[in-house]
Amino acid sequence: MWYAPKLTSTETVMMMKSLIVSAASAALLVMSGAASADQALAQKNACMSCHGVDKKIVGPAFKEVAKKYAGDKTAHDKLAAKVKAGGKGVWGQVPMPPNPQVKPEDLSKIVDWVLSLK
Ligand code: HEC
Repeated sequence: MWYAPKLTSTETVMMMKSLIVSAASAALLVMSGAASADQALAQKNACMSCHGVDKKIVGPAFKEVAKKYAGDKTAHDKLAAKVKAGGKGVWGQVPMPPNPQVKPEDLSKIVDWVLSLK
């Protein structure tokens, strides 16, 4: 037999509150986990040494890139090809070197992530 303590109503409310809080923070974790998984891919492929999420380093801030191509349906393919082959002239005269080592499925995820930034 186990002994179930009788809870006062205040204790019950407190318990429910902490349950709700932990459910909410779990949901938040899942959401931020999704975003940082793509960012981790960008980090792993050394993109973040030249690009900041919201500040220019050598290349443009990824948020600026997202803004520039907002509403451009061809942006995903265009940018994936550009990242792979490298290039210059869109943001200035500093070229982006080619990044042929990035796996196509990773590249696609990174470009989706970049374009989703706001
Ligand atoms: C050595 C520095 C460097 C690295 C590493 C680098 N970039 Fe870039 N990136 C640049 C520069 C410089 C530009 C601007 C090129 C231009 O003006 O056309 C740029 C431009 C871009 C653009 C916008 C292209 C356009 O035509 O508007 C995207 C998207 C991008 N980079 C993604 C990436 C991703 C993803 C990676 C990692 C696989 C990466 N970059 C790695 C320097 C870099």
